[in-house]
Amino acid sequence: MPQPTLTVAGRGNLGRSLARAIHARLVPARAGFRMPRRGLLFLAVPDGAVSEMATRIARMKPPAELGVVHVSGALGLDALSALEGNPRGSFHPLQSFPMPRDPSAFRGIAVAVDATTPTLMRQLRALGRAIGAKPRHVGDGERVLYHAAAVYASNFVDVVVAEAVRLLGEIGWTERVATEALMPLVEGAVSNIRRRGVVGALTGPIRRGDAETVARHLEALGTLGISPSGGAPSELYRMLALVALRIALEAGLDPAAAERTRRALTRHVAATRRRGGA
Ligand SMILES: NC(=O)c1ccc[n+]([C@@H]2O[C@H](COP(=O)([O-])OP(=O)(O)OC[C@H]3O[C@@H](n4cnc5c(N)ncnc54)[C@H](OP(=O)(O)O)[C@@H]3O)[C@@H](O)[C@H]2O)c1
Repeated sequence: MPQPTLTVAGRGNLGRSLARAIHARLVPARAGFRMPRRGLLFLAVPDGAVSEMATRIARMKPPAELGVVHVSGALGLDALSALEGNPRGSFHPLQSFPMPRDPSAFRGIAVAVDATTPTLMRQLRALGRAIGAKPRHVGDGERVLYHAAAVYASNFVDVVVAEAVRLLGEIGWTERVATEALMPLVEGAVSNIRRRGVVGALTGPIRRGDAETVARHLEALGTLGISPSGGAPSELYRMLALVALRIALEAGLDPAAAERTRRALTRHVAATRRRGGA
């Protein structure tokens, strides 16, 4: 397949990383944007700016051979509907780029691809493979769940660690000391998931069906104030613990121990509600 000319518009974290990995020309997306006449144009701009930029490009009367591709995980192809006469696609690396990263950041990752034409689909798949990634088709109908899953695996890991840091703060640990102390646990959990899968990797009191420990956790968390997010710390623990319990059962926890743990979790909620708590 002949290599299309590649341009990335948007010099942010992903734009810079992608341009380096695919050897594309990197151009500004706002003032100074110049539309290429052919090949593929990647719009590496904030999600909220994709449609607006598509409309801006449509007004420039793009030649029909220019393919336009967004890199958002949350948006479907309809975000590019202003460019109806052009092949439109999406190319979303399932990776986080809190800063520009070198091309190795794409190696081995999944890239969700979609396109309005079979040719563009083939080009995006080939490009994904060329940077060492694994392209997977994710259509408009699957998009939202796909992106919600990415939020769990990336953002919510940060959220649960932040909650752990906050609890250690309650016993006087600084954020730095708490974060450093928790990192080996986080890294161990990630490495166990990689080796054993999500079911085999679960350890701890819920996996063991230790209802007394769970009840003590809830009791202690119930004495803390409302968290900055506005929720009771015991409520977040309870929600996560119920998910953990389902995984523990799948991993082979004795159903009677699971039932005792479930009762410890729900009993606490009933007691808190009676006392007028969250
Ligand atoms: N960062 C990640 O971890 C990550 C991962 C996967 C997918 N993505 C997707 O990548 C896209 C870009 O994200 P990013 O993290 O790279 O964002 P970013 O670092 O904030 O950079 C966005 C770039 O877009 C341009 N821009 C900003 N506001 C604009 C506007 N109103 N209109 C046109 N251009 C504008 C600017 O480039 P110029 O200065 O050149 O104009 C800016 O540097 C988003 O669709 C995001 O969902 C990001």
